[in-house]
Amino acid sequence: MVVQAVSDLQSASAHLRFSTGIVKRLGEELNPTLSKSILELAKNAYDADATECQIELQDIGRPGGTIIVRDNGDGMTSSQITDGWLVLGHSSKNPSSRTRLGRIPAGSKGLGRLAALRMGRNTLLSTTSKQEENLQHELIIKWDKFDNTQVAEDFVLKITTRPSRQGFTPGTEIRINDLRSTCSRMEVKRLARELILLADPFDDNPLGFHPELCTPEFKDLESLVQNRYFDDAEFHLSAEICANGEAFAKIVDWKGKLLYEAKHSDIVPNSKERTSYRCPPAKFDLWVFILNKDTFSSRRSAIGEVRRWLKDFGGVHIYYNDLRVNPYGGPDDDWLGMNLRRVRSPEERPGTNTSIGRVVVHDEKNQLGEKTDRSGFIENNAFRDLRSFARDSMDWMAKCRLREAELRRHRARKTALKQSDLAQHEFMSKIADVPREMRDVIKDAFTLYESSRDREVNVLQKEVQLYRTLSTAGITAATFAHESIASPIKIVRHSIAAIERRAKKFSGELFSNQFKKPINSAKRALTSFTVLGNVTLSLLDHGKRRNTQLELHSILDDVLDTFSPFFRGADVEVTKMLVQGSPFLRGQRAAVESIITNL
Ligand SMILES: Nc1ncnc2c1ncn2[C@@H]1O[C@H](COP(=O)(O)OP(=O)(O)OP(=O)(O)O)[C@@H](O)[C@H]1O
Ligand SMILES: [Mg+2]
Repeated sequence: MVVQAVSDLQSASAHLRFSTGIVKRLGEELNPTLSKSILELAKNAYDADATECQIELQDIGRPGGTIIVRDNGDGMTSSQITDGWLVLGHSSKNPSSRTRLGRIPAGSKGLGRLAALRMGRNTLLSTTSKQEENLQHELIIKWDKFDNTQVAEDFVLKITTRPSRQGFTPGTEIRINDLRSTCSRMEVKRLARELILLADPFDDNPLGFHPELCTPEFKDLESLVQNRYFDDAEFHLSAEICANGEAFAKIVDWKGKLLYEAKHSDIVPNSKERTSYRCPPAKFDLWVFILNKDTFSSRRSAIGEVRRWLKDFGGVHIYYNDLRVNPYGGPDDDWLGMNLRRVRSPEERPGTNTSIGRVVVHDEKNQLGEKTDRSGFIENNAFRDLRSFARDSMDWMAKCRLREAELRRHRARKTALKQSDLAQHEFMSKIADVPREMRDVIKDAFTLYESSRDREVNVLQKEVQLYRTLSTAGITAATFAHESIASPIKIVRHSIAAIERRAKKFSGELFSNQFKKPINSAKRALTSFTVLGNVTLSLLDHGKRRNTQLELHSILDDVLDTFSPFFRGADVEVTKMLVQGSPFLRGQRAAVESIITNL
């Protein structure tokens, strides 16, 4: 070994350096889908005060295609490219300072563009800044070359500057060339929907932002979104939270007549300790539709059109500083638990397919925070209170409608009673006309009939009582399943995995003697628990309460399949004996499932 003597203290400077691999990983993990990635570029155009943003897709059905995103925003100078666009993880945007057009910027992390730029093998940026309209800057990033370089700083890029072409206006164009993978039509449709919903298409803002996807899918959806069917809604709930956290709300009917009004204390449930909502000021609008032929006979629009509109755009969307935040109000999202609450009282509660709504929040103090992977808001107190406000407002609406329905039923019962009294009276007066010797025989027969009818009513009342109790038990089971599948089960699963991982770090023998058995039993129990929850929720699927043609054999197979984990657990063997052919019925799948389940 050679030991070099160091006579004096020496120092050398060093840098933390980054492998190019980290950029690749970040790009892949942040925004894995076409719609999410391109949406980030559209949001950047919004932040740059663009009013138009065009997205062109060329040959994207096969690898090697191109995506072009073009905007008429403020563009970038050469130094803004080097100190901003090329710096990852830093953003000069600040939610508390507004843009030239008074917008609150959507970006803040300095990462949004990355996933989209890496979708192709090379990316071309060309931009002209509003500050120097006569210059156009261009830059190409060849990602294969970048990935083959060891550290990011060793990869050199060249910005070319030339005089802008005649008539060229400020703005930015990003071309993502030589796409690595293909995009399906479903993805394109999803992107079209996301772009349309991005800047609240239901609000007419002249300074608004108009993203446009140059595809037929977009044109279809765009014309659908422009046919606003709000006037056909049965009810319109509008609720608001003021800066002091107090809420108020009102409901109007489809003719605009005010039906109910609520002050803060009517909305906040009595059980809540705290009274004001600790979230930024927000406005919640919900349009509730009753999609049946009777209701629509008096409306201007056809029920089918409205159904399609709700299918594509229904749900409650969140507009945060004027831009929509995913996934709230997305096709599989039910952040307010509307569908579960609907199960409890289908008459009075809207579902995601029968209503459309938006929560508009202007968050100048940055109380809500978006997750880095753009999968929604961080679950902090402000977000929780915003969600409670929307839920409490809907609960208040349901209470109003329930009261109304009770009143209706009470009136109907009174009328029915009156009618039966009248009929009895009529019968007795007719008997008075019958010859005396026959009168007593008829009276006795009628009394007999009355007492057997009363007995029948009694039995029916008891049955109704039983079914009410069963439905309460069912609702409790469904709520339990819904709430536990979301978070507690995940926590238990992760905790078991963490205990297993840590226990394995002890010697192998100690793990197998002391930990393996209880860990495996906990895992098995958790699986049964998850299956039970899924079974409960699958029985409640609202699609099952629609009248359709029902293939009995296939429903039987599905029910047996759903319950198979329990059969296995209890060592039960089920033998099917099916009749020939494919018998079917017309009706509700839920009804057939409940018959089979109760066998
Ligand atoms: N279309 C555009 N016009 C002008 N500048 C742009 C445009 N797109 C990107 N930029 C600049 O590039 C930077 C990086 O964009 P990127 O989306 O990665 O980050 P961000 O918007 O600042 O934050 P976030 O990661 O939250 O989106 C922006 O801060 C902006 O300065
Ligand atoms: Mg951005």
